Amino acid sequence: MPKWLNDAVFYEIYPQSFYDSNGDGIGDINGITEKLGYVKSLGCNAIWLNPCFDSPFRDAGYDIRDYKLVAPRYGTNADLANLFDKAHSMGIKILLDLVPGHTSDTHKWFTESKKPGKNEFSNRYIWTDSVWEAPPQYRLECGITDRDGNYMVNFFSSQPALNYGFYEITHPKWQLPYTHSECKKTVEALKDIMRFWLDMGCDGFRVDMADSLVKNDDDKIATGKIWQDIRKMMDNEYPECVLISEWSCPQRALKSGFHCDFYLDHRGNGYNALFRYTDDENGELKSFFGGKGNGDITLFTNDYLKRYLESKDYGYMSFFTCNHDTPRMTRYFDELQCKLAYCMIFTMPGVPFLYYGDEIGMKYAENLQSKEGGFHRTGTRTPMQWSSGRNLGFSCAPGEALYLPVDSSADAPTVENRLEDKDSLLNTVKRIIALRHSYEDLHADGDFEILYAEKNCYPLVYKRGKFIIAVNPSCKKASAPVSVIGNDIFLIGGYTLSKTSLTLDEQSFVILSCD
Ligand code: NOJ
Repeated sequence: MPKWLNDAVFYEIYPQSFYDSNGDGIGDINGITEKLGYVKSLGCNAIWLNPCFDSPFRDAGYDIRDYKLVAPRYGTNADLANLFDKAHSMGIKILLDLVPGHTSDTHKWFTESKKPGKNEFSNRYIWTDSVWEAPPQYRLECGITDRDGNYMVNFFSSQPALNYGFYEITHPKWQLPYTHSECKKTVEALKDIMRFWLDMGCDGFRVDMADSLVKNDDDKIATGKIWQDIRKMMDNEYPECVLISEWSCPQRALKSGFHCDFYLDHRGNGYNALFRYTDDENGELKSFFGGKGNGDITLFTNDYLKRYLESKDYGYMSFFTCNHDTPRMTRYFDELQCKLAYCMIFTMPGVPFLYYGDEIGMKYAENLQSKEGGFHRTGTRTPMQWSSGRNLGFSCAPGEALYLPVDSSADAPTVENRLEDKDSLLNTVKRIIALRHSYEDLHADGDFEILYAEKNCYPLVYKRGKFIIAVNPSCKKASAPVSVIGNDIFLIGGYTLSKTSLTLDEQSFVILSCD
């Protein structure tokens, strides 16, 4: 396990929308390089960069046409190499987004694969043996190529699934076992792409849909073996580089070789119960951080503790403030609620991720027309808001030329105006990240224990080494029967200690040092 990951705080950058350095209306790699100082000023020492490769952008770049070429709209491979260098000189690591499960249907592997005659790439994707063969349990695109067969897709129709084979073979005429030499070639092709960027200086990958490789592999046994093999390569050739999975099952992902796995926002899981959970019947927000005091913390603790305890010896779990697929928290929470939520996120074990703009409380833009396969996700992908003036400092292009419109509201938060307010969300985020860095107990592998989490009650109290941390997002004072002797080193709101209890004022958060 590379040591740096233990104290890593990531910043996720959606390249389209971060900073436009050449005035064409879309963000670019050189724009990110120019803003590294800002990333550093937040206390972030690592970046996850969403896909920046050549693509027809039917899914915002998760549909790759050329894995080894930076999309011209973002710059050149040399610009990316320069970003790696500059970032490293400032102590910042850069992870690229690896999309192993599918390509664009315009990738040259696929344009070859769809040809009727046999060629090197005929088996690079999953094809049935005739167009009349279309078992309904598979997502197949039927009858649209000259090749007499249907091909499987992984996500959108424009994203054919790469062929890593099948674990259980139900249709032997066209399904290859995952051990087949043709499937192994797909793995080797993936390793080749990884080496290409790792040799150039990237520090690892966030891996898209990491569990999606081998089909009919419900328990992910074969998919896990592939990742273990790739991890071996990483350990031998790039021991300081890391793999972080989009899987949301750390029990499997970490044992499969990932250093870290995301705790994603899945309906009904613990993350969702903390920050997003809505009641099915009346649409009422019932999340723990929702402020109404009607959340149930045990929906979180029961789910999280199981994952954490089963996986903590193998690697880390990652909390994020949001990502490019989920609505920003500001859709549900005001600034104070976001502060409380983020303070919890940045004091939990595992590796935290901050999504660009969340630190200033950027809004989720409602009702935006879908862009590049974004659909409801588009509202989370609008341009970063830097300062007052033209396009809020994102770009000097005319407004109508922008990739997506900037927030036009009079009170749009910007880095500039949020820095001025010493109690802003931005300054709170900086303070809590700085604190995390300064104490090993708060790092990814520091001990973690729940001290108080009762069904339908507030607050939540947990322990990280010598620190006792408590959060009460509800609008009423709340006590926990926890006896604490200690001094606060970080406080939002107020609290009182007695011999037998810790009481938090409404909407409060505290870190008590108990040595
Ligand atoms: C997950 C990514 O986060 C999402 O943005 C993308 O659309 C799908 N995977 C397909 O690659």
